Amino acid sequence: MQKQILEIKKNAIEEIEKAQDAKSLNEVKIKYLGKKGELTSILRGMGALSPEERPIIGNLSNEVRGDIEKAINDKQNKFDKQALQKKIEEETIDITLPGTKIKRGSKHPVNRVIEEIEDLFVSMGYDVIAGPELETDEFCFERLNLPKGHPARDMQDSFYITNEYLLRTQTSSVQARTMLANTEKTPIRMICAGKTYRREDDATHSHQFGQVEGLVIDKKERNVSLADLKGTLEVFVKKLIGKNSELRFRPSYFPFTEPSYEVDVSCFKCNGKGCNLCKQTGWIEVLGSGIVHPNVLKMNGYNPEEYGGFAFGTGLERLAMFKYGIPDMRYLYANDIRFLSQFDRKEEEI
Ligand code: DAH
Repeated sequence: MQKQILEIKKNAIEEIEKAQDAKSLNEVKIKYLGKKGELTSILRGMGALSPEERPIIGNLSNEVRGDIEKAINDKQNKFDKQALQKKIEEETIDITLPGTKIKRGSKHPVNRVIEEIEDLFVSMGYDVIAGPELETDEFCFERLNLPKGHPARDMQDSFYITNEYLLRTQTSSVQARTMLANTEKTPIRMICAGKTYRREDDATHSHQFGQVEGLVIDKKERNVSLADLKGTLEVFVKKLIGKNSELRFRPSYFPFTEPSYEVDVSCFKCNGKGCNLCKQTGWIEVLGSGIVHPNVLKMNGYNPEEYGGFAFGTGLERLAMFKYGIPDMRYLYANDIRFLSQFDRKEEEI
């Protein structure tokens, strides 16, 4: 029986050595150590042995069992190590490979213009004010010297929500709000940029567009004059659009200013020579402006005998077109990524 056990050990060790993978190793394990395995069945026959032989055979078979188990475990560890090694090799990361590019968004040109205008005016001591887009007739028109039935209301086709509420047609409404909110009636220097809405239905106008409004009010003795307005708008246009831009003031009419001016800027496309963009005139109308009308001051709590000032307003899309040389306003609304991504690093190039 001893011989038989040693024979089993020899065969088992041989087969363990030959095993190529975990599966065949397991088969060897079952064959020798399993419930019906060769070593197990030998142990079952121990009952037939003499009492002297029993411990000898018992010890031997336990020893052999231990040896086989150890050989199997060693082999299994070897397989595990190989598998791990293979996995590590297969999964090596090549850090020299180029990464996947992350698509970054970029600021819309109109938002860039807003930020730049705000920075510029803040540097000149202005406050940045916000007002509601859903506005009342009172603030959008009446307090700006445009009573109901005033013919100049026709200049701005409006989206009325009720008889009283409308989507603001101009950021000028924030002029009235700022004056009225300033209960101390101290001097004002403010700008307000934001969305405005008009009922436009032709191909070259959008129902929603951006405006920026500026208002300066100070004591009469400080003499805020047309010269200050002119100087301010010159700094504004030249800083924002380019130092070679030229400005032209044309007398005009706005209900909230008297006198009123429209300001033209030399065409960015042809530099004032005349092209299809400026309709061969060399100029493009950019701003509305003027000296704040005494009625507006009065209606919003400022005594026109004591206070005076200027106001101006302009369209943000038009400024963005000038600044970036965009020939068609529709690009600003289309949200075409090919267009928008061009403004990614524009600032540095200008
Ligand atoms: N609100 C005017 C518009 O939408 C623009 C404007 C003109 C604003 C003259 C002003 C101003 O403050 O003084 O056409």
